[in-house]
Amino acid sequence: MLDQLEQVEQEALAALEAAEDSEALKAWQKRYLGKKGTLTLMLRSVGDLPREERPVFGRAANELKTRLEEAHQIRAQALHRADLEQELKRGALDVTLPGRPIGPGHLHITTQTLRQIYAIFAEMGFQIYEAPDVETDEMNFGLLNMPPHHPARDMWDTFWVSDELLLRTHTSPGQIRVMRERYPEPIRVILPGKCYRYEQITARSEHQFYQVEGLAVGHGITMTDLIGTLTEFTRRFYGPERRVRIRGSYFPFTEPSIEVDMDCILCGGEGCRVCKYSGWLEIAGAGMVHPVVLENGGYDPDEWSGFAFGPGVERPAMLKYSIDDIRMFYGNDLRFLRQF
Ligand code: PHE
Repeated sequence: MLDQLEQVEQEALAALEAAEDSEALKAWQKRYLGKKGTLTLMLRSVGDLPREERPVFGRAANELKTRLEEAHQIRAQALHRADLEQELKRGALDVTLPGRPIGPGHLHITTQTLRQIYAIFAEMGFQIYEAPDVETDEMNFGLLNMPPHHPARDMWDTFWVSDELLLRTHTSPGQIRVMRERYPEPIRVILPGKCYRYEQITARSEHQFYQVEGLAVGHGITMTDLIGTLTEFTRRFYGPERRVRIRGSYFPFTEPSIEVDMDCILCGGEGCRVCKYSGWLEIAGAGMVHPVVLENGGYDPDEWSGFAFGPGVERPAMLKYSIDDIRMFYGNDLRFLRQF
């Protein structure tokens, strides 16, 4: 019997040495020390031995069990250390490798377009003035000659914040703010910013978009100045060969009001899908500042006159870069944005 123990020990230690991972280690433990393990069964069979052999064998078997348990623990620690070392080696950081570069970003197409517009007007002597996006009903409509229930309010579908507050539907309320701040100085400013309209989003219209309002107030300013300014802007922005056409229009805050068109940049006036076969593209609403609006801004209309205009920003960019869907601007698709 004692020989048998010795044999088990040799076999078990060899098997332990051969166990290369925790799986094998677990199997080993089950095989020798588990409930039905070799050694466990041998210990259980002590009772079958002749009485005088029992103590010697029992002690030897128990000692063997302790030795095997110790050996198991040592092997487990060694394997664990080896695992750890390998893990560290695998995850080792090579600090000499070049880092992963973060690609440089660039300005959004809208920002680029805005800056082109700023540059052109800056050269013509216009300052930039910013007005808030959240406006009062008074500023957005009332002081622009549209009292409550004025039918012209229907031209702008509005996001209301409360009974008196709204998201501005155009940049024109900025006209009142600049006039009130600058009076009695003459004024030549542009007011860029976001506008909001409660309307269906389509390839041609978003519910958020930019406008660049223009306002000039002074002595003896005439429609000729307005047309000259917008013609100059159009040629600098779209190219010196552009032709400009003026049509009569209506806005409550300008009198007279006009609509400014330029010949289609795609077909040059021949007529195509982009200009809906008219040969002309609408670029801005404009007009001479209405006397009531001048007065609301603090300027006496008998002494002062002025012009105002309000082109969009995304539309001009669409024309210039042949973009056929306004939703691309704010869709956050890098494949689109990286092109500009
Ligand atoms: N505010 C007008 C609009 O949003 C445009 C405009 C601006 C017209 C200034 C005349 C003068 O449609």
